[in-house]
Order: sequence, then structure tokens, then C-alpha cells
Amino acid sequence: MRRLVAGTGWKMNNGIADSIRYAEELRSRIAAMDTSAIDVYVLPPFTSLTTAAYAFDGSPVAIGGQNMHWEDSGSWTGEISAPMLLEAGCRYVELAHSERLQHFGETYELVRRKLDKAMSVGLIPILCLGELAEEKAAGRADEVLASQMLTAIDGQPDTRVPEIIMAYEPRWAIGMAEAASPGYIAERHRALRNILRKHCGDEVAEKTRIIYGGSVTPENGKDILEIEDVDGLFVGRAAWKAEGFARIVELVSEAARRKQLA
Ligand code: PGA
Repeated sequence: MRRLVAGTGWKMNNGIADSIRYAEELRSRIAAMDTSAIDVYVLPPFTSLTTAAYAFDGSPVAIGGQNMHWEDSGSWTGEISAPMLLEAGCRYVELAHSERLQHFGETYELVRRKLDKAMSVGLIPILCLGELAEEKAAGRADEVLASQMLTAIDGQPDTRVPEIIMAYEPRWAIGMAEAASPGYIAERHRALRNILRKHCGDEVAEKTRIIYGGSVTPENGKDILEIEDVDGLFVGRAAWKAEGFARIVELVSEAARRKQLA
């Protein structure tokens, strides 16, 4: 059975002082919950990573970076490497977020290099995949998702693919008033699992987590978690306050319990 995931990316929010406050509040809000069956992550901005790593130490919450460079070190002004993330206390790294593609010109070819480096140092990549509104309208969503995923994992042995967390984040549903509909999410997650099945085999497809992100809230999260191929939630705005993320962690923990009993 796949372990469910509850994650939040803070984007460019929560400096050092706010990270400490957030961590203290989240720890106390989730202390009584049984989170043993799920993985929980928070992705702070770079300057808050070390502080957050200490502040969450000994709790169920692991931290990760929101981006990284594909080289270990060198003349890359303004960049952060995978070994630096590890040293700062990270277990995860997010790759290919829509805002990185849109505003910073990232491509999946660059993402492939980053993913390869992350895997080689032992960081767990959270690989974002998602179609644009125009691609959706043209009926090309699954073709785009296949191309993004296969470009990013090119060169990885099949046996290592389940270490990657695939994050389906339709680019037209990020930062909006509403998430994609449960029916639409179900179709895309099924398509993503079929892409894995076709290219990496049944075992890889069954083991790999595919989580959903894009305007998730504590209100819509429960229905999204009911979808068979959804293995967790990746939340932005609704989890920028500890209270909101605590509610998401609770939803995912309950969903994990339901799946265990089923
Ligand atoms: P949102 O962000 O939940 O605020 O839509 C999601 C994301 O960017 O991953």
C-alpha cells in the first residue's frame, strides 16, 4: 500500500521568525493526531530551512527545498545545490513547480538534470506535472503529462522511480478559487498511473505516489482524497497558516486509516 502524503509549499512566505511560530503551532496542533501512516512535509524558503529543520526536529514533519541546481557547487550565482539542501536538514526537494516554469524559464530538460542530482544524493524529489489551460482545452493534457514525466525521469532505472513523489498540479488550477473537479483529477491521476505502467511496469505504477495540488483546501480535500489514484495533497495558500495545514494533516491521516481498513 502507498503511504499517503500531506505537503505544503510556502513559496516566498514565512521568514525565520514566522517559521518558528508556524512550527510551534503546527507541532502542538498535530501532537494528538496519529500521523504514523503518512508522510508530512513543509517546503520553506531557503533562508528559513535550517531554522525550520531545528524547529520541526523530533516531529512527524520533514522539510524540503522549493528548487535546487543540478551541480554540487561552482560559479552559479544565486543558486543552491542538493548537498546544501541536505546539509540544511532537507529530506525533500520540489522540482518543476508551475511558477518556476512560468517565471524562471525552467524546462523539463533542466528538471531532468535536477532530479538526477537529487536522487543521487538521497533527496526525495517532488516532481510537479501539469498542463496549461490551453493544453487542457485542446484535449492534450495526458500527452503533455506523459512528455513532462518521461523527460524528467529519463535515465532513471525503473526500480528507483517509486522514490519520486509525482505531484499532479494542473497549471490552470494553481492559485485559483477552485481546485480541478474530482472527476477531472481522477482521470488525470489514472492517466499518470497508466503512463508509469506502460513505461516502467505494473510494480512501479502501483508503488509510486501521485499527489494532487492546486487550490486544495480543508473543505475540498476530503473529496479529493477519496479518489482511488490520489495518494495525498500538496497545498499552497490554505496551508500557509499552521491551523490550515493541521487540518490537511488530519484529513490525510484519516484517509490513510480508511484505506488501511478497506
Ligand atoms: P495553491 O498552490 O494551493 O495556493 O493553489 C498550490 C501550489 O502552487 O502547489
